[in-house]
Amino acid sequence: MSDRYAVIGRPINHTKSPLIHGLFAQVAGQCLEYGALEGELEGFEAQVLQFRSDGGLGMNITAPFKLRAFELADQRSERAQLARAANALKFEDGRIFAENFDGIGLLRDIEENLGEPLANRRVLLLGAGGAVRGALLPFLQAGPSELVLANRDMAKALALRNELDHPRLRISRYEELEGQSFDIVVNATSASLTGELPPLPEGVLGATQLAYELAYGKGLTPFLRMAQAQGVVRLADGVGMLVEQAAEAFAWWRGVRPETRAVIDRLTIPLE
Ligand code: ATR
Repeated sequence: MSDRYAVIGRPINHTKSPLIHGLFAQVAGQCLEYGALEGELEGFEAQVLQFRSDGGLGMNITAPFKLRAFELADQRSERAQLARAANALKFEDGRIFAENFDGIGLLRDIEENLGEPLANRRVLLLGAGGAVRGALLPFLQAGPSELVLANRDMAKALALRNELDHPRLRISRYEELEGQSFDIVVNATSASLTGELPPLPEGVLGATQLAYELAYGKGLTPFLRMAQAQGVVRLADGVGMLVEQAAEAFAWWRGVRPETRAVIDRLTIPLE
């Protein structure tokens, strides 16, 4: 029997993870099986433990179970701890290890695939939810001149800053962004899922080189349209992040980092 992995979430029918990991296994010459499980709100933990006792070696975790997966683990990486969420589990030596590769996947996509290093740049991150929690540590480690985090609910932003006090990290209200400019702007709010636009003051994106939307497969979201209207040349959605976080998990489980370019190209839907 080949080594077994799976993604678990609810709903799970639109997941791309089995396709991505299947392609990785092909290109890396690895023999494994990767399935998808519809998580149960009542019995999520029991499902994970059952998957492990059936011989499973690792899982990807998606909404709404990332926090529960984190809590279920015996050992958690630093970035998973800051995110308070796990998007990958590994079962080894009778223990459950938790990781969070969302932030590092996003960083790799921006720096390596899109060719926009964060070092010494001014970076604006919109939102203070789970996606931002995952991104903060890898982003700060990449050495931006300043990382500004804007959120509507300042209490949430303050709570994050209190957990990670860093000289380059600043939190801001949206209206305080008026008159400022940023090299790279990442929309990590869930606004695009409901077709909304974060309340960015007019002109903030005027000198921006890259506008990155975390949601993927939604075409030109209101945020990306706003960026386009303000002359931002480089627009990206989160498909590259999705593939890069998967590659990190694959490497963590299998010890081999697969090539991602062809997989990203295969999943990319043109932004229009
Ligand atoms: P996720 O795990 O996807 O980050 P979340 O934890 O529910 O989701 O967080 C959603 C984030 O999107 C929050 O930061 C939320 O802002 P508030 O904390 O101020 O509510 C942000 N968000 C959602 N809709 C938004 C909108 N229309 N404009 C700006 N921010 C929005």
